[in-house]
Amino acid sequence: MFTGKRILLGVTGGIAAYKAVYLLREFQKKGAEIRVIMTPSATRFIGTETFSALSRHEVAVDVFNDNEPNTSWTKHVHWGEWADLFVIAPCTANTLSKAVHGQSDNMLTSTLLAARCPVLICPTMDGEMYESPAVAKNLKQAVELGFYILEPDTGYLASGLEDKGRLPEYDLILDKSSGIIEKHAIQGPLTGKKVVVTAGPTREFLDPVRFLSNPSSGKMGIAMAEAARAFGGNVTLVHGPLQSSDLERFHTETFTSADDLFAVMKTHSDADVVIMAAAVADFKPASSHQHKVKKDRGSFQIELEQNPDTLEWFGENKKDGQTLIGFAMETENLKENALSKLKKKNIDWVCANNLNEVGSGFGTDTNTIHLFGKSSEEIFSGSKQQIASKILRRIFGE
Ligand code: CTP
Repeated sequence: MFTGKRILLGVTGGIAAYKAVYLLREFQKKGAEIRVIMTPSATRFIGTETFSALSRHEVAVDVFNDNEPNTSWTKHVHWGEWADLFVIAPCTANTLSKAVHGQSDNMLTSTLLAARCPVLICPTMDGEMYESPAVAKNLKQAVELGFYILEPDTGYLASGLEDKGRLPEYDLILDKSSGIIEKHAIQGPLTGKKVVVTAGPTREFLDPVRFLSNPSSGKMGIAMAEAARAFGGNVTLVHGPLQSSDLERFHTETFTSADDLFAVMKTHSDADVVIMAAAVADFKPASSHQHKVKKDRGSFQIELEQNPDTLEWFGENKKDGQTLIGFAMETENLKENALSKLKKKNIDWVCANNLNEVGSGFGTDTNTIHLFGKSSEEIFSGSKQQIASKILRRIFGE
């Protein structure tokens, strides 16, 4: 029901906050990936640790983090971009009011303003409060503003009264959520497809403080992931060590060495589309030193051995209907080398660029890509974002 779907669960300060724990589990059981945002008062009812352990992700409460001043304070924007659906359950009268009036005085309400995904509000409060004219007016306005509302259930409330105000049954919240996600799914050539994109460099450690690597910034891979998402794909970005701090908008997995990359990617052998934009080291040290190598040894010989070739493995184990897209960075004989990789690795497309072309290559914002299919060649120039869209449009149409 929710396989590959990303749900932001907003938890506010009402007694039903404890039920959000079970709701999280229900979403997970149906395949959803969850991140949790709590209002400060929700933490009076339930600990952040409960949610972080279950969601296997940090829980956001504060926009600013005094304990870790170097962490990104733009999390509300990136988490908002990351989600397919934002569910606020339980939602107090206070947070409902803030949502309607565009207030952004905490992480939850700030993310709510930044989010571009649909939002489902589950108002949960005592019956008297729920029926107050102010709440009724806010609910009406919330609908007008485009929020989805799931009315509370009637039953026994924390106040001891029997009234309308309980958090609805989990099944109802799940049904409503899946309907909303379906309605808002981006319709594009990759809708419903699992797309795995690799980006960035590998590191091959010689000893604990030194490694062999390359200057890849990961920008082209990130642009490909962005474009695949805009085409409706269910995208996982598998990346190496990168400077970029705004990857929180993606579902990500990481690698350090080429061996790690190979191991991670083998778990995605069922992908419909694999885009290998990572700059993978062909060689690794035959042995690495457990302790730092000291300079008084005079000289240092490094024996190298070959790394596994992830793309070649996908080519050898190619599934029906799977599309494999490789990258090639060349300094000479671009066409010849690109076509030989296409054939040798049994892949569908190669995006080749020439390191010597102006505006191309490592770390730049622009690029020129020669896209080779089995019997075609096209050239795309521009920003990496523009090129990524052009490549996917050429391959998958629109
Ligand atoms: N690749 C890979 N595993 C490797 C090396 C490369 O999966 N060990 C992938 C890259 O991500 C890229 C494609 O294969 O999509 C081509 O990479 P490139 O380094 O250009 O070519 P190589 O096959 O390594 O050949 P050469 O270094 O001889 O040009």
